[in-house]
Amino acid sequence: MSRFAYVNGRFVRHGEACVHIEDRGYQFADGVYEVWAVFEGRLSDAQGHFERLKRSLGELGIPEPMSAAALALVLREAIRRNRVRTGLVYLQVTRGVAPRDHAFPTRPTPPAIVITAKSIDWPATQARAAQGVAVITTPEIRWARCDIKSVALLPNVLAKQAARDAGAAEAWFVDDLGLVTEGASSNAWIVDQDGTVRTRDLNANILRGITRRSLLDIIAEEGLVLSERPFSAEEARTAKEAFITGAGTLVMPVVRIDGTKIGDGTPGPVASRLRDLYLRHARASVA
Ligand code: PDD
Repeated sequence: MSRFAYVNGRFVRHGEACVHIEDRGYQFADGVYEVWAVFEGRLSDAQGHFERLKRSLGELGIPEPMSAAALALVLREAIRRNRVRTGLVYLQVTRGVAPRDHAFPTRPTPPAIVITAKSIDWPATQARAAQGVAVITTPEIRWARCDIKSVALLPNVLAKQAARDAGAAEAWFVDDLGLVTEGASSNAWIVDQDGTVRTRDLNANILRGITRRSLLDIIAEEGLVLSERPFSAEEARTAKEAFITGAGTLVMPVVRIDGTKIGDGTPGPVASRLRDLYLRHARASVA
């Protein structure tokens, strides 16, 4: 099936889509991105991602390329043109095209925007969730503004490749104190020995995950004990359960950390239930 990308105002064939060689995203990673999960051909948890996009752009002083309402129309059109029922939409906004100079362009420069949409193999994703995934830990080497969803992802790329080389699906960054911050492309969670669901607090240098936020509401509704308190890599390896959250993985049980089995090495009851509840929420929240 031919696919279409939205590039700076128009839809073009995916294979022919191009950006300028002096796009600051290309030269300096001077841009931000968002990823929405798509269910039934519609955006899931849409509002949270729009709000975070606005914040990321604001923190970097990049103008919004269009209003959230206009953007929602373009995202929906990208979903429609690519015939996505279950999948992902990717959006990237950079500071635009200008002669290479580290400082911001002095002339008014429109931000550059790219949107792609792709289907995912839902039965395969569900099968993976039924089995659970492996995680490795790796030293935290990222910059101090991981709250900005920047396209500067080289540490995340290296961590993810290290995970893949180790036969794992995700890498968890561990800071100087031995505490897990988050995954290369997901937030990190455990169910500790006391049965408390734990994830890192937002004062830490992590991305404010939209899936994380929705799941916190679900956890509260379920009456589970929750603590936004850091956990060490060692606590994670000896936890009852572990899981990750993100638009790409939704809620995904973790069954091994650094080769150590978590619990009995199969997805735990809390993670499995939270995945089911999150999927229900994700489908109900589509817009
Ligand atoms: N990643 N932490 C990091 C570093 C991430 O890159 C992501 C998402 C998350 C989870 O955020 P959310 O729940 O809003 O998707 C946490 C996306 C999916 C990606 O890079 O493809």
